[in-house]
Amino acid sequence: MDHRILSLVTCALLTCNTAVGVEVSDFDSIKLYTLKNQNEMVVDITNYGATITSIRVPDRAGNIADVALGYRSVESYINAIDRPYFGSVVGRYGNRIAKGSFILDNNKYTLATNDGQNHLHGGKMGFDKVVWKAEVLEDSVKFSYLARDGEEGYPGNLALSVTYSLTDDNEIVMHYEATTDKPTVVNVTNHTYFNLSGEGATTINDHVLHINASKFTPVDAGLIPTGELRDVAETPFDFRTPKEIGRDLDAHDTQLKYGLGYDHNWVLDRIDDAVELAAMLYEPNSGRVLEVLTTEPALQFYGGNFLDGRLVGKSGKAYQHRSGLCLETQHSPDSPNRPEWPSTVLRPGEKYNTTTVYRFGVK
Ligand code: BGC
Repeated sequence: MDHRILSLVTCALLTCNTAVGVEVSDFDSIKLYTLKNQNEMVVDITNYGATITSIRVPDRAGNIADVALGYRSVESYINAIDRPYFGSVVGRYGNRIAKGSFILDNNKYTLATNDGQNHLHGGKMGFDKVVWKAEVLEDSVKFSYLARDGEEGYPGNLALSVTYSLTDDNEIVMHYEATTDKPTVVNVTNHTYFNLSGEGATTINDHVLHINASKFTPVDAGLIPTGELRDVAETPFDFRTPKEIGRDLDAHDTQLKYGLGYDHNWVLDRIDDAVELAAMLYEPNSGRVLEVLTTEPALQFYGGNFLDGRLVGKSGKAYQHRSGLCLETQHSPDSPNRPEWPSTVLRPGEKYNTTTVYRFGVK
């Protein structure tokens, strides 16, 4: 597709100066890739963490804003305090594994713990913290990473790729593929924080959210699922009809207390294995709409509860409490310890193959 411009801009938006505490072997290998379509939509992605650093989309009047939170410099991504995982691919297991351990085929595996006593988003050096190999394809960019056997405690050499494409229907299509040489667990997702008013705007509590799910997984105080699949009906977790995010945030609800707001996993109402609508987000003033479609069985809606004004974003504004939200398509947290839930096990000879789409529009 020759109308689509895919350019490689080495550190154009990301300034690569001196690297402090860099844990990558070749700093020069960090690059920025830009995808553009016919509708003036522009997406920047770096091979550091296969991270989406910016998504510029029009509002209903045609005004462009960057709706993805992120930093201006590579150093900020590398040295991020509190590690918000802005825009990155997280894994080998996105989300939490209780006490950083699980049993697979009678072998107990002990993972790095980086969230109290639990494992979160792949551990200390997860996929957000590594440099991926990049390959520019006709209308997409493919990032590959070989996670070594034993890395962060996981078994098996995992050959993983994520391919990002941008369509003229304003869709970012993310296609993940992986194979392994030993039985392992895999659950990768993208961790973009959205604010459809534009990054740097105050809160997402005025956004209207729909989640196509009748059940969610209640958690304990450490945000580990208790094992229950609870009906959303008559709880603040009911987004089956589009609802303003802020509407029930102050309800007296133990789950909201544990999450400091919404930081939970919804079990999607799926028809089959196809790419299906998981969630829809709408911001009334700009008219911007984001639809999230996926082949995955669940969705983590994280309301940016841990943002507290200390992180300064790419346009110089501090990211305040709940100034961005994540809609992370995935399997539910702690699935390796929940054999009754959809499996995250990948075995030699099998192929991990998932697709998630961020589709932008206006209304
Ligand atoms: C989790 C939050 C966590 C955040 C880190 C989200 O995916 O649900 O609990 O604090 O990632 O940025």
